[in-house]
Amino acid sequence: MDDVEIVSKFVECGVNLHPEVLAEIKRSPNREEVINRLINIAREESASVLTLDRLRKVKEKEEVDFPNAGEGIQMQSPRECRVVLKRSKRRLSQEYDSNLRIKREWDITKKSYCEGSIESFVSYFNNRFERLAKLLKSRTALKESVVIELIKSSRYSGEVKFIGMVTDIRTSKKGNLILELEDPTGVIPVLIRSQDRELLEEAKEITKDEVIGVAGFIPNGFDMVIANEIFFPDVPVNREPRKSEEPVAVAMVSDIHVGSTQFLGDTFTRFIKWLAGELGTPRQRELASRVKYLVIGGDLVDGVGIYPEQKDELVIKDIHEQYAAFARFIERIPEHIEIIITPGNHDAARQAEPQPAIEEEFAPMLYEDPRVHMVGNPCFATIHGVEVVSYHGRSLDDIIASIPGLSYSSPAKAMKVLLKKRHLSPIYGGRVPIAPELFDYLLLEEPPDILHMGHVHTTHVENYRGTVVVNSGTFQGQTSFQKKMNIHPTPGRIPIIDLQNMRTTIMRFS
Ligand SMILES: [Fe+2]
Repeated sequence: MDDVEIVSKFVECGVNLHPEVLAEIKRSPNREEVINRLINIAREESASVLTLDRLRKVKEKEEVDFPNAGEGIQMQSPRECRVVLKRSKRRLSQEYDSNLRIKREWDITKKSYCEGSIESFVSYFNNRFERLAKLLKSRTALKESVVIELIKSSRYSGEVKFIGMVTDIRTSKKGNLILELEDPTGVIPVLIRSQDRELLEEAKEITKDEVIGVAGFIPNGFDMVIANEIFFPDVPVNREPRKSEEPVAVAMVSDIHVGSTQFLGDTFTRFIKWLAGELGTPRQRELASRVKYLVIGGDLVDGVGIYPEQKDELVIKDIHEQYAAFARFIERIPEHIEIIITPGNHDAARQAEPQPAIEEEFAPMLYEDPRVHMVGNPCFATIHGVEVVSYHGRSLDDIIASIPGLSYSSPAKAMKVLLKKRHLSPIYGGRVPIAPELFDYLLLEEPPDILHMGHVHTTHVENYRGTVVVNSGTFQGQTSFQKKMNIHPTPGRIPIIDLQNMRTTIMRFS
């Protein structure tokens, strides 16, 4: 690149170059990257002339501004950088129209028909069974599955395949695992032998109220099935995730807990400043400029009366004021970013799941903001062609407590188990109150490209068969309850997913 080309690049962006700076740039081994960094900084500071003095301060500024944000940063290719710089002062994501569809038909808000009668429980579980059984039947291995009534009739002996909802799990004195499976035609016990180590290991992931398939046999004179194989609805192997054609990214956050003594306001402010392009290295700012959507997966505020003695841990003791304080943070998020907000168990919404959106009466400022979409929990959305499911994640408490090997420190592993079950909250009667709606809104009919949860306050990202499984951590420090439980949250580590390549970057703000 000769002198004219270098100077032209700056002029194109409305910046004049001091001759000493030109000489300095030419001495740099990584000329192109230096040019891009300088142009970004000049544009952000609206500087029309770039002096040598300014150049010297650049590195210093980057080091003091944002000391911890380097982890997991994806390198952007110079070509992509050029695309940004040739445009006006607008952010990269502003160059593209919004392409967000919230699937209101899968959202419980304003259409709860739950009565809590026995009939509604029956129709809720029937809906769950029918839809998950249909998914299982689409698997080749279960095409010839039969109903339990047929298996129990005298005509049946030998090999069997069937689908049922797990109504009981127990271990015999000899170490066999005994399941009870039910379909609309009957109930049958299934035995997984203690010597069948591999199958027993797989079966550890089975929980009550989920729907599974079984292949096995009925020994002569027995009234139970000995399992040879079990099947979860699962996600197809090697599924190709959908991607965006536009260079836009989504930031995932949750569990902000405004109002708590442990809410980390400075950390949250740094995140907002980064979104606004006010913090970070040029590469980090370039990533920020791609963020067009922000998903907030519940627990916006700490709430009031959520647990005993909570009032001692609140700096804002009124729920309306908590939401008003939260809304003041949201006001500072750049205008071009669209915000999806779902409730969590600390929010002002029905506690039973699926949860309708946070009530307008408590958070009027959020409803007045045209960028904000107030939705239920879970939320199903398509963003630039990418299928996203956001669920607060309260069922992680039940899953972690029931399956050996799962822990609060690696929540994405528990999330993968839920994905295999194709259900966000399968266990009924545990810690999650479930409202028996006529339709099971917690079921994953289609495998999403991104499965987002929070609730456990630990950032963790994994990939399962093409789905990005992401837990977005928290903006709250360790609470006294978490201290007692030996839970160590990871505040201020925020996953940013580039929808064009489905790569995740975890930005650290604390
Ligand atoms: Fe929560």
